[in-house]
Formats: sequence, C-alpha cells, structure tokens
Amino acid sequence: MGRIIRTGVSFPEDLLKAFDKIIRDLGIRSRSQAIQEAVRDFIAMNSWRIADGEVAGTILVRYSHEKYGIEEKLTDAQHEFLKLIPSALHIHISKEDCLLVIAVRGMASEIKELVKKLREAGRVKQLTYVMMPIC
Ligand code: NI
Repeated sequence: MGRIIRTGVSFPEDLLKAFDKIIRDLGIRSRSQAIQEAVRDFIAMNSWRIADGEVAGTILVRYSHEKYGIEEKLTDAQHEFLKLIPSALHIHISKEDCLLVIAVRGMASEIKELVKKLREAGRVKQLTYVMMPIC
C-alpha cells in the first residue's frame, strides 16, 4: 500500500446517514475504511468500460415476462452475441418476474454493445453487471 492521503468529501445529509447506517450494520470499523471499499468497488465496476481489454463477468436482467415481446427480444440479443456468452441462467423469481443471469467473456467494447442491446429489449426492471478484466 502507498502512503495515505487525506481528502475532504461533501455529502448530502441523507446520503451520509444512509451510508453510516450501512457501515454500522456491516460492522465496518470506520467511515474511511468504508469509503475506501466503495471507491475500490467503483473502480472495479467501471474501469473495464474505459479500456477495451478482455473481460469476463455476469449481466443480471430482471424483467416481467408478462410484458409483451420482451422475452423474445432478450433472447434475440443473446443469439446476436452468442460468441460472448458461454452460459445463461433463467430464474423465475415471482409470478411475474424473471431474472436472467448471463455469463460473458469477450472484449469490453462488444460486451457494452450486448448491454445496450439488452436495454433496448424493452422496459427491463433492473439491469446490472459485474466485470473483471482478464490479464
Ligand atoms: Ni421466468
């Protein structure tokens, strides 16, 4: 670890209260430690989007299968990018909702295109992803 640098950060009051509650509930020792963890997560979550290297990870899509056409469009998108997708899992999470877990491996630029296509499939309820650089 390099040397420690102190910095000041401004927060809206309600955001800081919510943050402190999570810190207490998780038993994290200090606000500084929690902010460092959050910054590491932020870097890990976003660095792959800037540099176009090879990455592997998962895309999670929650959607209502009762929304007309969405399931077919999500499937079409996966078939369009089939070389990126070694595996996918469909979980029925409620009477209405499905969770699609798509494992991916490929160039970041191609995975960004797949994510864009999945978003275009219609009104997904939630779409998130975790990617790790392969190096
Ligand atoms: Ni389902």
